[in-house]
Amino acid sequence: MKKFEIAAIPGDGIGKEVVPVSLHVLNTIEELHGGLKFDFKEFPWSCDYYLEHGKMMPEDGLETLKSFDAIILGAIGNPELVPDHVSLWGLLIKIRRELEQSINIRPAKFFKGLQSPLVNPKDFDLIVVRENSEGEYSEVGGRIHRGEDEVVIQNAVFTRKGTERAMRYAFELAKKRRGHVASATKSNGIIHSMPFWDEVFNDVRADYPDIQTASYHIDALAAFFVSRPQIFDVIVASNLFGDILTDVGGAIMGSIGIAPAANINLNGKYPSMFEPVHGSAPDIFGKGIANPIGQIWTAKMMLDHFGEIELGRKLLDVVEDATNDGFKTPDIGGKASTIEVGDEICRRLKRL
Ligand code: NAD
Ligand code: IPM
Ligand code: MN
Repeated sequence: MKKFEIAAIPGDGIGKEVVPVSLHVLNTIEELHGGLKFDFKEFPWSCDYYLEHGKMMPEDGLETLKSFDAIILGAIGNPELVPDHVSLWGLLIKIRRELEQSINIRPAKFFKGLQSPLVNPKDFDLIVVRENSEGEYSEVGGRIHRGEDEVVIQNAVFTRKGTERAMRYAFELAKKRRGHVASATKSNGIIHSMPFWDEVFNDVRADYPDIQTASYHIDALAAFFVSRPQIFDVIVASNLFGDILTDVGGAIMGSIGIAPAANINLNGKYPSMFEPVHGSAPDIFGKGIANPIGQIWTAKMMLDHFGEIELGRKLLDVVEDATNDGFKTPDIGGKASTIEVGDEICRRLKRL
């Protein structure tokens, strides 16, 4: 019997609607499998928690999380009540950094049953490896003047270690896929960090002579995601470029509500965190119409992480088949509710 202790943080907004659905799916898998056991412990850390306690999680929150095998997170953010930089740096970004989840992997592919907005939605299947701990997301900088001459400086921080780590991960992943890595750069405009990024990319690729490579400026690359996504296999990107690209990845599949992600701790010291690409979607929260597929596909990435590859594949097949048969939330052109889609997926899993 394989037993996993999992911390679940639904967070804010639709995180509270889609996380329970993904736990329902995982409980169904557990019932059917026999050899797997998930123990979930839920934590209410969120903007509501902040309003009550003045912080996003307790002082020992990170210590508590360290004892789990994985973390499932919905989304954080209720900007009407708590400024985003306070809530996100107080919980999501803090966990990513302190638990050394240095890589964020975010796939996008042609998804059965979805109306992609692409003019020619030929099969595409790509994965973005996003550097997840440094780059443009940095605390270095500050306000150096106020008033009429107000100046704010935000420094980007790129270490050789962090940059190389993301790139090596991308090359190793490409070895198991179609053998191609594209680098997202902007060395024509950003004169320190991006020429450095290119330099590290050149150094790393020399160690992988069998992998084909290409380098694109991020602006052109974003356009190619829309006009010819089928040319990509693995894309390695800095923290911010990877963030932006992966919302585009969701959109070309048909909705950012289906896009999955995994924050991976590579050194095995701490748990990895499974959290979809989308946010707390305050505009649809409470209506029961959030698409649960992003969170469910993210759970599939957790199964992969636990070595349950075949189970993960079956789960994704079931989700695609249910979508193809019309069980869809409004963002992808359907009328079903969050819970109805989840229930249908569980029903189909039981029929396997
Ligand atoms: P968002 O992803 O929450 O929403 C963007 C648009 O996509 C909205 O119209 C929303 O309704 C739609 N959408 C998103 N997920 C959906 C789903 N599952 N089903 C159907 N439609 C969906 O991005 P935003 O509006 O920029 O951010 C809202 C809040 O979420 C902010 O506080 C932001 O900081 C936060 N955020 C958190 C995370 C996270 O915790 N991982 C990620 C992104 C944004
Ligand atoms: C994401 C989100 C976060 C990020 C925000 C909410 C800080 O957009 O996970 O994609 O930029 O990493
Ligand atoms: Mn994002």
